[in-house]
Amino acid sequence: MSGTELEDYDDYRTTDVLVVGSGIAGLAAALGAAREGADVTVATKATRPEGASSWWAQGGIAVSRDDPDQFKEDILAASADTADPAAVDVLVDEANDAVSDVLVDTLGVEFDTNGGAEADAPDADGDAFDFGREAAHDEARILHVDASTGKAIHVPFLNYLDAHDDVTVRDDTAALELVSHEGRVNGALLERDGEVTPTFAGATILATGGIGDLYPRSTNPDGSTGDGIAMAALAGADVADMEYVQFHPTVYPGGDDPDDGPFLVSEAVRGEGARLLDGEGERFMPDYHEDAELAPRDVVARAVQTEIDTTGEVRLDVSPLDFAGEFPGLAEKCEARGVDWESGIPVGPAEHFLCGGVDVDTRGRASLDRLYAVGECSRTGVHGANRLASTSLLEGLVWGLRAGEDASGLDPEVVEAPELLDRDPALPDNFAREKFHRLRRTMDEYVGLRRSPDDLGRAQAVLRRLKGEVDAYVRTRTARSLYELRHASVTALLVTRAAAENGESVGTHNLVEEPATTRAD
Ligand code: SIN
Repeated sequence: MSGTELEDYDDYRTTDVLVVGSGIAGLAAALGAAREGADVTVATKATRPEGASSWWAQGGIAVSRDDPDQFKEDILAASADTADPAAVDVLVDEANDAVSDVLVDTLGVEFDTNGGAEADAPDADGDAFDFGREAAHDEARILHVDASTGKAIHVPFLNYLDAHDDVTVRDDTAALELVSHEGRVNGALLERDGEVTPTFAGATILATGGIGDLYPRSTNPDGSTGDGIAMAALAGADVADMEYVQFHPTVYPGGDDPDDGPFLVSEAVRGEGARLLDGEGERFMPDYHEDAELAPRDVVARAVQTEIDTTGEVRLDVSPLDFAGEFPGLAEKCEARGVDWESGIPVGPAEHFLCGGVDVDTRGRASLDRLYAVGECSRTGVHGANRLASTSLLEGLVWGLRAGEDASGLDPEVVEAPELLDRDPALPDNFAREKFHRLRRTMDEYVGLRRSPDDLGRAQAVLRRLKGEVDAYVRTRTARSLYELRHASVTALLVTRAAAENGESVGTHNLVEEPATTRAD
């Protein structure tokens, strides 16, 4: 794209560090940079805290207890030994200090305790915290606040940074494109209320979260369109492991009534003893894996889908535990929707987490100068082909802090900004809605839990066409929905291409012979 004179924009801004996104990874990056004395701008599309995936996280945040090596082994085993051991070392070795320092001491998060004992650091007293257990964890090591851990961390984190003198949080502000010059990233074009403002930064940290909007069923909030990944890839940054899309096995699917919306049923519920039953009321997980309901998430998700396909439905039987007592928030969600949880909660898989993303090192540095990525939009190597439960908040926290510290100390440079033409072509009615529908249908049918080489070829053809149709409009408009569609189509292509190029079934990437079109389902 050719450059636009800066005076063609009404305004431009400068900041030491620009963070795009406001989940735990972005907020940790902002904190890390501000602690180093940087002036930080956080730009987020979200208008409310619920707009960030972190707010929705239920299960919790895993920490290291008596045996850090076992924690590392569990991460590697869940990933089918595809995670990067050096990255896993960083995550586990820094887990407890990061949780104590930021979450407990700075933000005052009160994790559930067993009552009585002093509980002020994850490793202070093995019995003080009510450590939860989730699938593929060898021991109970998950700190939580009921099943609303994300919210309990995210709200005080946002409040803390809102009050911080060196941090400006700009909400309802979308990043449309990165500004880059001679292989260096110098900031981004930010849009609010249709106004586009180039924001030049000494360093730019992407923390835009996941890709749930690429699929019809997802646990992510709306707007999870892969913005950071697409912007980075379009600027020339490396991405990796894009084929590894994790599906959560136990999502209540919801119904047609708008009040009957889907919701995640945390893996912590299975950790407390809940069992999965098929359409005939039979328990099936022991036939699939020796760890039964606590097998790695990819195994459980595929088993649940197989049982839904063959027996009609799967329910989560919560009768072995005191469900309402231990998970009051989830019991309320069931009751609000008229779901009689005593008869088992209907569940099925839904897109949950992208294990890959912008390829970064242990400081969150991407392959382009002054560009960083943290959290779900990044690929640190911690997750490999399948993420261990309750490691995503932790990864966001640890890498966010590291990247923020590393990114400070660089002065912003004002350079040529990308050209946005102010033409307004007649856009067909429902353009974005129709294209999103086609994109999601394609991803669901061809790039979901099971993938065949033929289907992946078909999906690439559809997505390439779709991206071309979107690109024809996007360069002439600054409308946010068109950019989201552009980012979604670029990201969908990256996922599909990576899946087509990887001939090995591993973790979340499961290859089958039969194309979906001829599969009996
Ligand atoms: C859950 O609570 O089941 C989700 C936890 C996670 O994805 O790490």
